[in-house]
Amino acid sequence: TTKIILDTDPGIDDVMAILFAQAHPDIELKAITTVYGNVTIENATHNALYLKQKYKLQADIVTGASKPIVRPPVGPTVVVHGEGGFGDVKVPAEVEGQADPRPAYQYIIDAVKAEPGEITLVAIGPLTNLALALQADPTIVDLVKEVVVMGGAFGENDHRGNVTPFAEANIHDDPHAADMVFTASWPVVVIGLDVTEQSFFTRDYLDQLRDDAGEVGQFIWDVSRYYLKFYSEKVGLEACHVHDPSAIAYVINPELFTLREGPIRVVTDGVAEGMTIQKFDGRTYLHDDWMEHAPQKVGVAVNDSELLALYRSSI
Ligand code: BDR
Ligand code: CA
Repeated sequence: TTKIILDTDPGIDDVMAILFAQAHPDIELKAITTVYGNVTIENATHNALYLKQKYKLQADIVTGASKPIVRPPVGPTVVVHGEGGFGDVKVPAEVEGQADPRPAYQYIIDAVKAEPGEITLVAIGPLTNLALALQADPTIVDLVKEVVVMGGAFGENDHRGNVTPFAEANIHDDPHAADMVFTASWPVVVIGLDVTEQSFFTRDYLDQLRDDAGEVGQFIWDVSRYYLKFYSEKVGLEACHVHDPSAIAYVINPELFTLREGPIRVVTDGVAEGMTIQKFDGRTYLHDDWMEHAPQKVGVAVNDSELLALYRSSI
């Protein structure tokens, strides 16, 4: 089994990912660290505590950053995930249990030091907590097993951005943090729009999940109503993309994905703010500091039917 800390801004597809990680026997969900993004940090932590109570999760819940490191906050994406983050599903105002007293970055540092080489960080929101952990203790790069990120878009198959023509939401929310995480010398795998927009949860697929997968299937169906409405009205799709659950699928079965290697940078300001770029041509240039950075891996293709079957059989 792979021990993970799931860094998340729940969020409808985040819930789909959390319940996937919880359901699959090959994953041990050690902690959920929260981050602003789809919702405010208060909301994100509240939603995580609610899921812990509702599904009796063993995972620690830990509160993370409330804003990006450098850029001004973009703000919650109410149109995609609803006021509270779970679409039309209202989370009760009172939930049992409490978040760990440490900030998420400190929890991450403590956890990877306690179990060197054992923990995979899976980030499915803005990368602020991971960057803060790197800033506070750069030695963690040698202690983390792997960093798996849902974010970015590398221009394969015309998938370049979803919040601007050239930027994906998680990276656009904190481009400076993302650039730190991608250029650090720990092993990073980035599952971006190039692959997450190749897999679709259709209405039929979600109906089946509701019919076959008990209470969890029903809950996923319930939260997905609002998301499908957004996709139908704003994207013109009668389905939703499989963003955050794809990062979990990678942890369970990396063979579902085709990866490409090379250093990754993020554009931190200007017209292409939040754009992700990978250098993979192997050439050296006259002015070239790219090769100083660790080669990382980017997903460029996915076996979508197997991914969808894996999700269905796990939930
Ligand atoms: C990412 O942005 C958020 O809206 C989703 O939860 C996902 O993590 C997709 O661009
Ligand atoms: Ca997310």
